Amino acid sequence: MFKLCGLHLLYLLVFHLFTMEPPAVSLRLSGEKDGVIEIASKKGYLYLNGSLDRETKAIHRLQVEALNEVGEKVKGPYSITINVQDINDNPPKFDKSKYKAVVWENSRPGKPFMYVHATDHDDPTTPNAQLSYSILHHFPNPYIHMLFQIDNVTGAISTSETGSRLLNHQKQDMFTLVVTVKDLAGMSENALTSNTDVEITVKENLWKAPPKASIKENSTEPHPIYIMQVHWNEPGAKYGLLEKEKMPRFPFTIDQNGTIYVTEPLDREEKELYSFFATAKEEGGEELGWPLPIFVQVEDINDNPPVCQNALTIFEVQENEELGSNIGTLHATDMDKENTLNSRLQFRIVEQNPKIPLDNLFIIQQEAGTFQLSRSSLNKQKVSNYSVTVEVTDKVFTTLCDVKINVIDINDQIPIFEKSDYGNWTILEDTPVGEVILEIQATDADDPFTGSSQIIYQIEEGDQNKNFIIETDPQTNRGFVKINKILDFEMSSMYNLTVKATNPEPLVKGVQYNSSSTAYFRVVVADVNEVPVFSKNIYIVDIFEDVPVGTLVMNVTANDPEGDRISVMEWVQMASTVAVCHGVIVPGTDVANVPNKKSQSSTAVFMLFIKDVNDNPPRLTKGNHLFFCHPLQGGARAEIQATDDDQQPYSPEFNFSLGGGENIKRDWEISRIDGTHAYLSPKHTNLEEKNYSIPLTINDNGKPPQEGNLNLQVNVCRCTDEKRCFIEVENHSGMPSTGMAVGILLGVLISIGFIVGGIFLRLEYKKMKGLKRNAAKPSELKTLT
Ligand SMILES: *[C@@H]1O[C@H](CO)[C@@H](O)[C@H](O)[C@H]1NC(C)=O
Ligand SMILES: *[C@@H]1O[C@H](CO)[C@@H](O)[C@H](O)[C@H]1NC(C)=O
Ligand SMILES: *[C@@H]1O[C@H](CO)[C@@H](O)[C@H](O)[C@H]1NC(C)=O
Ligand SMILES: *[C@@H]1O[C@H](CO)[C@@H](O)[C@H](O)[C@H]1NC(C)=O
Ligand SMILES: *[C@@H]1O[C@H](CO)[C@@H](O)[C@H](O)[C@H]1NC(C)=O
Ligand SMILES: *[C@@H]1O[C@H](CO)[C@@H](O)[C@H](O)[C@H]1NC(C)=O
Ligand SMILES: *[C@@H]1O[C@H](CO)[C@@H](O)[C@H](O)[C@H]1NC(C)=O
Ligand SMILES: *[C@@H]1O[C@H](CO)[C@@H](O)[C@H](O)[C@H]1NC(C)=O
Ligand SMILES: *[C@@H]1O[C@H](CO)[C@@H](O)[C@H](O)[C@H]1NC(C)=O
Ligand SMILES: *[C@@H]1O[C@H](CO)[C@@H](O)[C@H](O)[C@H]1NC(C)=O
Ligand SMILES: *[C@@H]1O[C@H](CO)[C@@H](O)[C@H](O)[C@H]1NC(C)=O
Ligand SMILES: *[C@@H]1O[C@H](CO)[C@@H](O)[C@H](O)[C@H]1NC(C)=O
Repeated sequence: MFKLCGLHLLYLLVFHLFTMEPPAVSLRLSGEKDGVIEIASKKGYLYLNGSLDRETKAIHRLQVEALNEVGEKVKGPYSITINVQDINDNPPKFDKSKYKAVVWENSRPGKPFMYVHATDHDDPTTPNAQLSYSILHHFPNPYIHMLFQIDNVTGAISTSETGSRLLNHQKQDMFTLVVTVKDLAGMSENALTSNTDVEITVKENLWKAPPKASIKENSTEPHPIYIMQVHWNEPGAKYGLLEKEKMPRFPFTIDQNGTIYVTEPLDREEKELYSFFATAKEEGGEELGWPLPIFVQVEDINDNPPVCQNALTIFEVQENEELGSNIGTLHATDMDKENTLNSRLQFRIVEQNPKIPLDNLFIIQQEAGTFQLSRSSLNKQKVSNYSVTVEVTDKVFTTLCDVKINVIDINDQIPIFEKSDYGNWTILEDTPVGEVILEIQATDADDPFTGSSQIIYQIEEGDQNKNFIIETDPQTNRGFVKINKILDFEMSSMYNLTVKATNPEPLVKGVQYNSSSTAYFRVVVADVNEVPVFSKNIYIVDIFEDVPVGTLVMNVTANDPEGDRISVMEWVQMASTVAVCHGVIVPGTDVANVPNKKSQSSTAVFMLFIKDVNDNPPRLTKGNHLFFCHPLQGGARAEIQATDDDQQPYSPEFNFSLGGGENIKRDWEISRIDGTHAYLSPKHTNLEEKNYSIPLTINDNGKPPQEGNLNLQVNVCRCTDEKRCFIEVENHSGMPSTGMAVGILLGVLISIGFIVGGIFLRLEYKKMKGLKRNAAKPSELKTLT
């Protein structure tokens, strides 16, 4: 095989020499010679007479044969393949000499709006045909950065970041780009190039945020209702809406023409301004442009009625009140937009009851809702209260509000204290905030339950720090002096307090509070007596369950930091296994002058673990009823199992032994399997067919040990084929075989039932024991205190 470079090869280029051996004297060449590839038949060299062109023919397939003197083939044919190698002899060529395109302002940078394309005839597998595009010139070029960019491989032209931002059809709507294409991947100075012009027209961006839309709330028109339309610059965009904030429901849609609709009536009182985005996407889902912000303003309509602030508004008016006096203001609200006519409310009295001494006794200010007296003619003895109905309107809706006007006595009585000096009070410095330390009482002869008789107690002197507060019971006017801030003996050990009682309503002219409305008391702050301290927080004692009553379990000691005497310990709670004990300090003589000094107590936990005593003998759980098949066979044996109801500190270790006389020991023997199991076996095979009763003794390893004495019932019997005892059925007549089978089955079922029952009881028992134990775990102590 030969490789030859294409084009412009020298004439008669010899590129191979064949040698011949006799009888061959000449060579013959055939195949794709194309008039260029020849062979000097005698001399044997292969040569080119002319030039090869890879673009015309890249591969030439030839055969050569060796001929003898008379021209007959003596060897061959041999195949020759000539690959013509490419040289970069073709320049790239654009498909068009001039391109035209349109670009929209603000189009997404990097998103191609057009492509240029060039071809190169050189070998596409070599760099000779690898093309690279670039923008050579940019007319005009008003900025530092180019407004357009080209993908050097695909020829895609798009706006640059700068272009996306700055293109403006009003400033410049035509651009010409000179685009170059280079082969050799644009990497070589020897690359061949071509140019083309690209004319770009800039068009106005239609994808603009529309102005804020306004829609009336609570619309009764059929929905959806048109709001506005957005347009992408070209057809075919997929429109969508994007929520900005999470709303319980989103009442807007957009159709594929970019028209935005509201889908249901809106409520301004719920939400006044909606803001979201409209998007335009390609078929594939990629965004075409920036999302547009959309604002929808909900316009108010008068769709809310006025609402009375209270179901019943109550005013008080003193009977000596004069004409024009302000009695009170009726408050009503309207949910519609404030400061608009929709929420403007007007008031009118529509009814007054009773009409004594005359109707229209009250007037209401139309815009403000304030009540005034139209005449000074109230008389509590005649009418103690009036019911007035007021119509409130917002011009569309009207609401009726109820007003009650109570005529009250004039405030001509002052509160009078029951006594002027409440004496001295000793208070512990740690008395908690809110605790009542003293009750005081003044009375007022005015109308009860009015502002004229209600009493407000205030500490006038002696409490700069506001350590005390006085609350009044509205029913009884009784005053409760409470701790407002914790007292501190070191700060102040004594308070000399002056309390004044007043009414919320002002007194009538000529009446004044005097010294009967003032009282005194003194507070002496006492240092705190500290709590007694136990020698331990938790006392733990183990005792056996069988200790006699009166046994001393443990000595508990405590002492008082102030050295006071401590009273005897006191059992407070005696549960099955846990007890809590209390220590109480009885005040010593040194504190006798502080009558309020309380006895202090503290609590410790006392835990009593009741320990088990070995007081249960072992008993059998398996082997109460045993049988051996008659006639006996050597090696027969039956398993027995024992247990013990005491708590087992280790695994139980029972000692099984046979009781009874010599004849028992002659016939039977017992052999240990483990601490709880043993075998019973006959010592010989000539035992009769009958029931045997075998005394068995089981000892446990407790201290002291317990002994269980019991009798094993052993049946030596005829057996069925299944090695079960044949049980005689009472009535032999009828169908004996069925009777026997039933008997056997029953026997098996009963014994299974027994075993299962035994296990069940045992589990229950264990569980109870476990629970008892758990209650005494130290991790549980917290919940016991
Ligand atoms: C080369 O080709 C030309 C024209 O095809 C022919 O006249 C000439 O004899 C050829 N020369 C050789 C050496 O084959
Ligand atoms: C073509 O563009 C790529 C990235 O866009 C760049 O890495 C490469 O250098 C460019 N080739 C030429 C010849 O400019
Ligand atoms: C979109 O507009 C076209 C032309 O105005 C109309 O025929 C078509 O019904 C509209 N499509 C929708 C979904 O409204
Ligand atoms: C809509 O208006 C009607 C009366 O015009 C009113 O009864 C209803 O409560 C209003 N709905 C809302 C949501 O405001
Ligand atoms: C209000 O007046 C009516 C009679 O007009 C009377 O029966 C009623 O007890 C009065 N209510 C009060 C609270 O004074
Ligand atoms: C109250 O205390 C003051 C000052 O400590 C004392 O002068 C007064 O006698 C005491 N009054 C009574 C009744 O104990
Ligand atoms: C307590 O205060 C009253 C009035 O401020 C005063 O008359 C009285 O002497 C004071 N008593 C003491 C013990 O300070
Ligand atoms: C205070 O005024 C009332 C009458 O308002 C009178 O009964 C009382 O005696 C007066 N008290 C003193 C100490 O003057
Ligand atoms: C308890 O105290 C008594 C008397 O003080 C003493 O005899 C006894 O040994 C103490 N017992 C214990 C368990 O400390
Ligand atoms: C078991 O009991 C037998 C008879 O009571 C006695 O001889 C034997 O020493 C005991 N063995 C053990 C290990 O307690
Ligand atoms: C042996 O006892 C079983 C019951 O335990 C009884 O059914 C059987 O009849 C007795 N056998 C003899 C031979 O007494
Ligand atoms: C046995 O059963 C048969 C019928 O079931 C009865 O006639 C007969 O009296 C019974 N014999 C005895 C001994 O119970």
